[in-house]
Amino acid sequence: MEQHGKRGPMNVSDNPGDLLAQSATFGAMTEGTALDWKIIAAHNQHLANDVASRVLDHLKLLEGDHGGFSVDRMEHSLQTATRAYRANKSDEYVVCALLHDIGDTLGSYNHQDIAAAILKPFVTEDHLWMVEKHAVFQGYNFFHHLGLDRNMRDQFEDHPAYDLTVEFCQEFDQTAFDPSYDSMALQEFVPAVEELFAEPKSSIYITDEGQMAGTNSGSS
Ligand SMILES: [Fe+2]
Ligand SMILES: [Fe+2]
Repeated sequence: MEQHGKRGPMNVSDNPGDLLAQSATFGAMTEGTALDWKIIAAHNQHLANDVASRVLDHLKLLEGDHGGFSVDRMEHSLQTATRAYRANKSDEYVVCALLHDIGDTLGSYNHQDIAAAILKPFVTEDHLWMVEKHAVFQGYNFFHHLGLDRNMRDQFEDHPAYDLTVEFCQEFDQTAFDPSYDSMALQEFVPAVEELFAEPKSSIYITDEGQMAGTNSGSS
């Protein structure tokens, strides 16, 4: 019978293929060794290499979710991204537009924070702020119908990304509920999504050399 759980002493080389065939042995982190963490780092890098496809899989959860709007949230996402693309925005901006509501299925009270958290390692500060604050800025278009302050965004008027975020909400986000709009297919955005998530700009797990800590990219 195959044994799981506790294993005997390991005798492995630290090339990535071998590392991916192994698991760490500790039951508490205080017992971890450098080799344990090389193994975990190799698995983590392997997982990170495919993050774009998992993000896209999660985005697809918005399909069929109308939430009372005239288009479902996937169509809204595609339409927002398409409008940004057709306005010649950068690929990074377009991906932010595509993903800005990806948190709708998980964050009923703060969906903007979920998109921001996913994008944070990969985008500029301004684009991150735009995504994180879009919910407040979008409120300009409807908060007054709900007894809320439509000018909630005013608290940020001195922020360097204020105009960027106003433009995003007014030009691309609030306009993207049109059932007759000719949106691009999700597939057309996949290369830009894969490119964006291929390499983080910053993360606590990235070394000064730009590698995932504990991995030796390009060597064994
Ligand atoms: Fe939103
Ligand atoms: Fe939106």
